[in-house]
Amino acid sequence: MYEDIEEILFNEEEISRAADEIAFRINRDYEGKHPVIIGVLKGSFIFLADLVRRLDIDFTVDFIKASSYGDKTRSSGNVDITYHISADIRNRDVIVVEDILDTGYTLSYITEYLRGFSPHSIRICTLFDKPGRRVVPIKPDYTGFVTDDLFIVGYGLDYNEKYRGMPCVGVPKTQSKK
Ligand code: IMP
Ligand code: MG
Repeated sequence: MYEDIEEILFNEEEISRAADEIAFRINRDYEGKHPVIIGVLKGSFIFLADLVRRLDIDFTVDFIKASSYGDKTRSSGNVDITYHISADIRNRDVIVVEDILDTGYTLSYITEYLRGFSPHSIRICTLFDKPGRRVVPIKPDYTGFVTDDLFIVGYGLDYNEKYRGMPCVGVPKTQSKK
């Protein structure tokens, strides 16, 4: 099913350990608090599910979806919110959970949008970070892996909707043809 993966970069065990470490820090940083955890659809859904099952604090889960009109592997500055949060985040501590931070267009737009609702705080948690591709200056507060400028798939991340269910993360052959 995933025979067209060129190389596996992160296996299930490594991803699980990264989720453990991020959850440990969030449990410590938000002890006694009740953050609103906002997953950025669709890519974050698997990481979010694994992350919240490691939390021992109270939290509310919500979702947001944004589309940016770039090509298949790179987003652009034209970001639109296509699915809105339903929680009232005024004066709340918000943690935005994303699969991967790339150019930064999507997350900077989302965090600005969320700031408009006057939350008490906003932090960014991303499983993967590609700082070498950054166009908008934005830094995550919690990161699992810093990766090279490769397009990666699996564990929620897709290429044309494929590979989201792959338990590990790798580089599809599609990319090497470019
Ligand atoms: P940004 O706006 O460029 O930071 O892009 C963020 C979004 O682009 C992510 O939420 C992903 O959906 C998608 N994206 C960026 N890099 C990758 C990748 O390597 N694999 C899969 N999706 C990616
Ligand atoms: Mg995404």
